[in-house]
Amino acid sequence: MERNILVTGALGQIGSELVPALAERYGAERVVASDVRMPPDGAGAASAFEHLDCTKTQQIQDVVRRHDIGAIYHLAALLSAIAEEKPQLAWHLNMGGLYRVIEVARQNGCAVFLPSSIGAFGPSTPRDDTPQDTIQRPTTMYGVTKVAGELLCDYYAGRFGVDARGLRLPGLISHVALPGGGTTDYAVDIFYQAIRYRHYTCFLSPETRLDMMYMPDATKAIVELMAADPTKLEHRNAFNVTAMNFTPDELAAEIRKHVPDFAIDYEVDPLRQAIADSWPRAIDDGAAQAEWGWSPDYDLASMTQDMLEKLSAKLRPAA
Ligand code: SER
Repeated sequence: MERNILVTGALGQIGSELVPALAERYGAERVVASDVRMPPDGAGAASAFEHLDCTKTQQIQDVVRRHDIGAIYHLAALLSAIAEEKPQLAWHLNMGGLYRVIEVARQNGCAVFLPSSIGAFGPSTPRDDTPQDTIQRPTTMYGVTKVAGELLCDYYAGRFGVDARGLRLPGLISHVALPGGGTTDYAVDIFYQAIRYRHYTCFLSPETRLDMMYMPDATKAIVELMAADPTKLEHRNAFNVTAMNFTPDELAAEIRKHVPDFAIDYEVDPLRQAIADSWPRAIDDGAAQAEWGWSPDYDLASMTQDMLEKLSAKLRPAA
């Protein structure tokens, strides 16, 4: 019988949509959601919800054994801006959590998915067409934990045969759960403000170009990578993936095609601008395309249209 799937950080921005995607592919009865917070509505799309603090080995061990877990999608982590404000906590949670999860995975024969990020690159990385294999010297604590996480996963794969795989995700845009404390969060906030107030004050400068992806593509990438034939994977931790790249100015222009009186102005936050300026402008995801057939469904135009439609329905006052 197939073993079950555990998602940590299931109430976060990715987890809120990954749990339903995994339930659709593998059956809700095989998916266990977990988070350090309690869910507002029970287990949601999963078969069970577990309160789980990933810095506590015994708790992870207990959940994995009780539910006969065979794969852990380990999403519990702090995002870049909040990690820069609380670097000690970021190390404790991002590295301490991963180390405990991958140790439990080793002991119980589980596969592991780890989200890495464009934040795993730094100012000495080529900023355009950033290759899959290149310089990784990030200058943020978030980036340090992402590079170390990639290395730890590769180490456990090579040394102990743990089937650990990862993606370097770009900024993720979604209408279900809000991101918390990231540098790319503007690309989500802007849609809420455009619908509510027809106006947005952006914390990154107008020409800051970054890679982005719509959440349905991100969950697709995660599910497809974990289902990919391992003999075809030359890389594991972690694959560059992208779907689009744009500046705040270009995103505002796209929104204006649907909301003609939408206005944007800028109050640059030095912390988040410095983080964004240390990241690539456009990464090359050729290895993901070649090794497991990665191809996104949404570009800037189709993502913007779908976000505005879905969020307008969500934010409309009940009749
Ligand atoms: N979206 C993330 C952040 O801004 C990048 O991985 O922190």
